[in-house]
Amino acid sequence: MRDLLRQRTSLKEEIEILLNNQVKMEAEASAKYLAMASWCDRNGFKHSASYFLKQSDEERSHMLKIFNYLMTVGGTAISPEVAAVKQEFATFKSVFESALQGEIAVTQSINRIVTQTRREEDYATENFLQWFVKEQIEEEDNARRAIELFEVIGEDGSGLYLIDKAIGKINSED
Ligand code: FEO
Repeated sequence: MRDLLRQRTSLKEEIEILLNNQVKMEAEASAKYLAMASWCDRNGFKHSASYFLKQSDEERSHMLKIFNYLMTVGGTAISPEVAAVKQEFATFKSVFESALQGEIAVTQSINRIVTQTRREEDYATENFLQWFVKEQIEEEDNARRAIELFEVIGEDGSGLYLIDKAIGKINSED
């Protein structure tokens, strides 16, 4: 049965697995950003809480984009299982460091899938993934800009308050 179904799509099994792994990664990123939003909210950083809520939404839209692609090309899209998410952070800055780390991991993962699509001569999926390649430039840039604020503004005195306000500005430009 599986073989018969497989004949109806040109999507290679290896690529289907990688795309489903990416669906899971985006779902986990969405859940991680929710935890970051909650941490910021309960520690008084309201603008950052909104920023992370928006990031969480974006990750869900990334997940759906890949999920829909899998269905469109006749693959099997798998509703992802999301692993336990870290809820606590040592400092305000470490939340953003964790966000940047996550974005870099996503970029690397997307790049690995693009490499594999070229090996498999799956140019349709490669073309589809170019949107993500471009999106990751912006995602990493936002995360880096947020961390730079800690250096530019400084964390002393009302620094954290001002950093949170500046994150709000990144959020409104985004
Ligand atoms: Fe969907 Fe921020 O990577």
